[in-house]
Amino acid sequence: MKSYILFSFAIVLASCSASAPVIIRPGEVWPDDRGTHVNAHGGGVLYHDHTYYWFGEHKGERSSAAWVGVTCYSSKNLADWKHEGVALQVSPDTASDIRAGSVIERPKVIYNKKTKKFVMYFHLELFGRGYSAARVGIAVSDRVTGPYTFLRSYRPCAGHWPLNMTEEQRAATITPGDFPEWWTADWRQATNDGMFTRRDFEGGQMSRDMTLYVDDDGKAYHIYASEENLTLHLAELADDYLSHTGKYIRIAPGGHNEAPALFKKEGRYFMITSGCTGWAPNAARLHTADNIWGPWTEHPNPCVGENAHLTFRSQSTYILPVAGKKNAFIFMADRWTPYHPIDARYIWLPILFENGLPVLKWYDQWDLKEVFQ
Ligand code: GAL
Repeated sequence: MKSYILFSFAIVLASCSASAPVIIRPGEVWPDDRGTHVNAHGGGVLYHDHTYYWFGEHKGERSSAAWVGVTCYSSKNLADWKHEGVALQVSPDTASDIRAGSVIERPKVIYNKKTKKFVMYFHLELFGRGYSAARVGIAVSDRVTGPYTFLRSYRPCAGHWPLNMTEEQRAATITPGDFPEWWTADWRQATNDGMFTRRDFEGGQMSRDMTLYVDDDGKAYHIYASEENLTLHLAELADDYLSHTGKYIRIAPGGHNEAPALFKKEGRYFMITSGCTGWAPNAARLHTADNIWGPWTEHPNPCVGENAHLTFRSQSTYILPVAGKKNAFIFMADRWTPYHPIDARYIWLPILFENGLPVLKWYDQWDLKEVFQ
């Protein structure tokens, strides 16, 4: 009898121990602590005080627009998620930039150690104007789960030139209006040479799909699809993370990248992006750099196997370093369902490395504990 009790006790201990499996099921319904599919799309995760906080877009049954705001969930193990509520609420005030029905996408939250504030950036489109505003929105909170206070929205880096635009490119006078047609060889050349950057120099650069990245030295960067989604920009944030300093570069000019997600491994920066086909998936792209300010080099699609050309029917949103593990990163992506937005699924896959480069393979399910030992 005694040994039976001891044995049962050992089993219970083992199942509660750190070695218990943490199963991730890409593409399935992910119930939260209430049994409801997690509603945090285009999201990102902040690890703070031994807890993961997942922020994302709240989506409706029929509408992808922001009728609620940015949601927050918390987890200790990355598999069991507790609904923490709405971190940033849309405003009932029709004069507000974030009025209900605007577009709030790809929110990301970072923590500023100096100010002890949590800072949220997101892609904002003003109510009723489609995707023409192309702004970044900024909100702040003293508490990780919010409520976040909306500060402002704008197009970044107004009045500043990218570090990697030459004097000649800055001084050129050709404009998009000079081209009756897009995608011609001359148009491409002019685009690569910064025609759209010049056009938006005074009013600020367009800012749509985005992510944030905090480097080891505490410097934070905002990376966003700019120039009509033709070129990515990587811009430095002020020390309090609440604005842009105006220092920025263009990445992959004319390359049509969006959905940027960034991580650093052994001093090298990696960025996974998608092409621009709206809600429909396409092949992921990989970019690397030894210095965050570039040069950035493009590599082939990191996905392999069936549906690799569609990023396993998903689009990148964030790359999550697993806390306490060396070189353990999770690729986070969305499998959009625009006719039933709330049901969009999460595709989380471990980043494997071959010859120093990230590789993504499909798993119906995987054990975080087993993959990242
Ligand atoms: C995608 C983008 C999404 C959303 C969508 C709207 O290309 O990555 O975040 O903006 O377009 O069509």
